[in-house]
Amino acid sequence: MTPDVPRVAEHLTTRHPTLSGTQIVEHLLPPRQFATASLETYRPDPNFASQSEAVAAIRTFIAAGQPSGGLFSRRRSTEVKPGIYLDGGFGVGKTHLLAALWHAAPGRKYFGTFIEYTALVGALGYAAAIALLTGASLVCIDEFELDDPGDTRLMSRMLSELAATGSRIAATSNTPPNALGEGRFAAQDFLREIDALAAQFTTLKIDGLDYRRRDLEGHALALSEDAVRSAVEQFAGTITIDSFDDAIKHLSTVHPSRYVRLVDGLDAIALTEVHELTSQTDALRLVAFVDRLYDAQISVIASGTPLDEVFAPDMLTGGYRKKYLRAASRLIALTSGEGL
Ligand SMILES: Nc1ncnc2c1ncn2[C@@H]1O[C@H](COP(=O)(O)OP(=O)(O)OP(=O)(O)O)[C@@H](O)[C@H]1O
Ligand SMILES: [Mg+2]
Repeated sequence: MTPDVPRVAEHLTTRHPTLSGTQIVEHLLPPRQFATASLETYRPDPNFASQSEAVAAIRTFIAAGQPSGGLFSRRRSTEVKPGIYLDGGFGVGKTHLLAALWHAAPGRKYFGTFIEYTALVGALGYAAAIALLTGASLVCIDEFELDDPGDTRLMSRMLSELAATGSRIAATSNTPPNALGEGRFAAQDFLREIDALAAQFTTLKIDGLDYRRRDLEGHALALSEDAVRSAVEQFAGTITIDSFDDAIKHLSTVHPSRYVRLVDGLDAIALTEVHELTSQTDALRLVAFVDRLYDAQISVIASGTPLDEVFAPDMLTGGYRKKYLRAASRLIALTSGEGL
């Protein structure tokens, strides 16, 4: 592979990824950009005490999970809950801390997003998925966002079973466990599951500013149509180019759990004629897609409306507000050109 030979741009729309249970399991690792995340590289913001408190609580959680000996050994610390739940706004370093915890844990361990675990159950069936995860020392679940009552039940049951057989659980979310689902579905119908879920975790609230915004401009970068095309032509790595409408339409034909494969192997994507979205369904698919781009640190080159402004004002005041704001924050980072 010669990096400086330009390759012909591909299209997202011609990629039709499949994803088997085995491929999902192989992918149950921290995303590329967190491959070396550690508690030492996390710099707590002195203005937000909850950040250094979270680091201390994670150290205690790690110590309590050591297989033998020590003051905090698992045998002696039966009062320590099996789970830790990092709740906080976007960009405060939750995934960084979760990955640091994963790296520090001994034995067989897994790291995936909520959507990856539900996709695993979808691909293998519940019993086989549980059989595979059982015996793990640690199961990390990033982005615990319950938008679907069926998934609430599924995850609650799965985590209870894993905790009962000795696995420890760590999760992150923009929403505390007792508020999951609020404003999105009839949360009162699932209080039992949500309470059961919350009972497994010690919740740590992490306050702070969006770390990604500490150095970045206020908006996602938008180029002219010509500038996008010439950037694509000159790009040395693997890149796709699609109109925004084509890309959004294509996302509706691929299950969100496969978006990870849709972007597999890409160094950048280009989107032309970006515009505000009017459909909430399209917007949520874009959010899931942006999450996968962000995990893999795939740069975005775009023309039209800046990508952080594609979520209509009424979306930004609705139940998915935080998801859209987080996607906007991630899009600002991905279009900043740092990865190009
Ligand atoms: N206090 C910190 N010290 C060092 N790096 C940090 C810190 N906080 C965040 N980062 C870095 O900033 C980026 C964003 O952090 P991260 O993705 O962990 O935030 P998050 O809370 O998971 O956000 P989101 O809600 O978008 O998932 C990452 O590259 C992370 O390593
Ligand atoms: Mg995160």
